[in-house]
Amino acid sequence: MPALRPITLLTGASAGIGTALAHEFASHGHELVLVARREQRLNAVADAIAASGKPRPVVLAVDLHSAESGPHIAAQLAARDLEPSIVVNNAGFGLVGLAAELDIAEQRSMIDLNVSALTDLSLRFVESLDRHKGGILNVASIAGFLPGPRSAVYYATKAYVLSFTEALHQELAPRGIRVCALCPGPVPTEFQARAGVPGARGPGFLTLSAEEVARQGYRGFMGGHRVVVPGFGNRLITVASRLVPRRFLLRAADRRQQQRKET
Ligand SMILES: NC(=O)c1ccc[n+]([C@@H]2O[C@H](COP(=O)([O-])OP(=O)(O)OC[C@H]3O[C@@H](n4cnc5c(N)ncnc54)[C@H](OP(=O)(O)O)[C@@H]3O)[C@@H](O)[C@H]2O)c1
Repeated sequence: MPALRPITLLTGASAGIGTALAHEFASHGHELVLVARREQRLNAVADAIAASGKPRPVVLAVDLHSAESGPHIAAQLAARDLEPSIVVNNAGFGLVGLAAELDIAEQRSMIDLNVSALTDLSLRFVESLDRHKGGILNVASIAGFLPGPRSAVYYATKAYVLSFTEALHQELAPRGIRVCALCPGPVPTEFQARAGVPGARGPGFLTLSAEEVARQGYRGFMGGHRVVVPGFGNRLITVASRLVPRRFLLRAADRRQQQRKET
């Protein structure tokens, strides 16, 4: 069998943090396969990377809501003699509103993307990650440390991502595979519009650019960290989430989400 070429598989590369991660990984010499639904946007990212003198990433237009997306991506890579040395699960979305009032199907599709697709792609390529001593970078959120009234399902999906990724870090460390959860605070991207709060802005002292989050995420991941929380203010929140009683956290989070909805 011919040796397969190692690549970094990156989901959600057509916008926001994913686009920034694509540039960050490419700038460090990683060859990329970019996944999202909007092919034109992926091609624009691939063209920009090629224009910077790096190899042009392969573009795969895939809807990760589908249960068939994992096998489909594996087949597409094999057909090109490629295999992941690194998997970056970044694609995800949130919704702001009372869980009982938001559309159930949409909330389930959030679980399909944020949880099921991420789990599938984290586990599907472990043998090739092992061969290349690569790793998995999963984008969680500081939401993963907190309960999230008025964004209940989103926060719960990110708590899953954080818990799953930390456990996988422990399981795969003996095989030399790094596994890291990147937990950003607020980042101005298309995320807010998709969540139904287009005007919402995070507090200035917590907000970082997608590029800064990607830089810190890459550095922490390559350095073998289990969890990376970019920004001092965001790290304080994760510490407070362990110290402050849950009922106070719930009230504070509820008030914050109500303000976002009214912005
Ligand atoms: N922005 C924040 O404040 C923030 C904070 C903490 C954590 N995060 C997390 O960071 C990650 C990236 O978010 P972002 O802020 O960059 O959001 P974004 O700008 O809305 O980008 C989301 C990316 O996910 C892709 N995506 C969405 N649904 C998909 C599907 N069904 N199949 C394939 N790809 C899909 C989108 O591409 P297509 O639409 O082209 O498919 C896009 O590339 C998410 O996991 C999010 O939860 C964001």
